[in-house]
Amino acid sequence: MLPQELIRLKREGQPLPASEIKAFIQGIADDRISDAQIGAFTMAVFLNGMSREEVVALTTATRDSGHVMQWDALNLPGPIVDKHSTGGVGDLVSLVLGPWVAACGAFVPMISGRGLGHTGGTLDKLESIPGYDPYPAPERFGQVVKSTGVAIIGQTGNLAPADKRIYGVRDVTATVESIPLITASILGKKLASGLDALVMDVKVGSGAFMPSEEKSHELAKSIASVATQAGTPTTALLTDMSQPLANCAGNAVEIVETLALLRGERADSRVMQVTRELAVEMLIAGKLVANRDESLSRLDKALTSGAAAEIFARMVRELGGPSDFMERSNDYLAKAAVIKPVYPTASGTVQRIDTRAVGMSVVELGGGRLRNDANIDHSVGFSDIVELGTKVDGEQPLAFVHARTEAEAERAAEQLRSAMTIGDGEATLDVLLQHTY
Ligand code: URA
Repeated sequence: MLPQELIRLKREGQPLPASEIKAFIQGIADDRISDAQIGAFTMAVFLNGMSREEVVALTTATRDSGHVMQWDALNLPGPIVDKHSTGGVGDLVSLVLGPWVAACGAFVPMISGRGLGHTGGTLDKLESIPGYDPYPAPERFGQVVKSTGVAIIGQTGNLAPADKRIYGVRDVTATVESIPLITASILGKKLASGLDALVMDVKVGSGAFMPSEEKSHELAKSIASVATQAGTPTTALLTDMSQPLANCAGNAVEIVETLALLRGERADSRVMQVTRELAVEMLIAGKLVANRDESLSRLDKALTSGAAAEIFARMVRELGGPSDFMERSNDYLAKAAVIKPVYPTASGTVQRIDTRAVGMSVVELGGGRLRNDANIDHSVGFSDIVELGTKVDGEQPLAFVHARTEAEAERAAEQLRSAMTIGDGEATLDVLLQHTY
């Protein structure tokens, strides 16, 4: 079928045969389909939606448009599992989760991204570690996964190349916010890493990528069922992003917190609760445990014995970072020139946090990108961010700002004050949910 015929069918709301979707997506990967045709197609999907079968076909075609990793030759003595998140602020989950799950016998080849919009990127955080190479050759990636149990790296050019073109066109044609297109885009890339099972973390709240709770539920349901139908058993959790997840947001500051969490500090914090729930799902999905209780007990041992921390240290070393990073992280991580507390203008309780605004403030401090080819400053961000419901006053700051200059610190402090609503009475914690699909 000619590309324009496929676009016409979708424009008229007719079902698309799986074989035609496959040919169209391969045409995108091979550069036979123009950007104009991609734009017309994505707008037709945006307006008319897709059936579940069509989304499965779009997802598998995207996955198969480039290299699909095969792990058989490595004979890994455990399941290959991974987690993907729709992104957030202070979301350092991957950094703790990968080593923690690996310490329980899973293998985690985690392909991560850079910051996108107001959300932080796992890769940017890892690059705070001097020498860490997020782009090892494929053989090296496999070796590190085998010897360590986990390797967190960046996306290589040949993984789901069709999505790279489609995403670029969607970005400039107002067709990003479409559940079928988001599902195929996320899963096309994720399923190309040859997983036995996947767990998806879909965020809800003021820092989430999806605009409403209803849409987050819809996305979670779509991803879990499409991935499973495409052959990779997947569950999705809905988790709270109505405030920064960890107590910090930035790059080096999140690595500092990661190390503390891996050492077993703040084991009951919100970020550890979310990480633990995702880890439980991964161990069950990988058939390493029979149930939730067994999973929790294995995870507890892996954390308290120091095994998870040791695996993080090994991953850093094997990917080019310092061999004594855990012991001397203070000497290795960049520190901002200005670090100061941000006090509220009035006393009261933190009742609401515009988490997206906190993320954008980190970007403006230099911790994220305004252009996709820009360099970032790993030292900047916020630490010791208060949680919803905390009483703040002239003694209790909202956070500490880490900035390059006094002027930048002052601007970020102002932005943080505006992002937090301080009032009388209790805070309403309305989205602390964890719903599983
Ligand atoms: N992340 C992706 O990779 N793709 C989307 O469409 C949205 C978020």
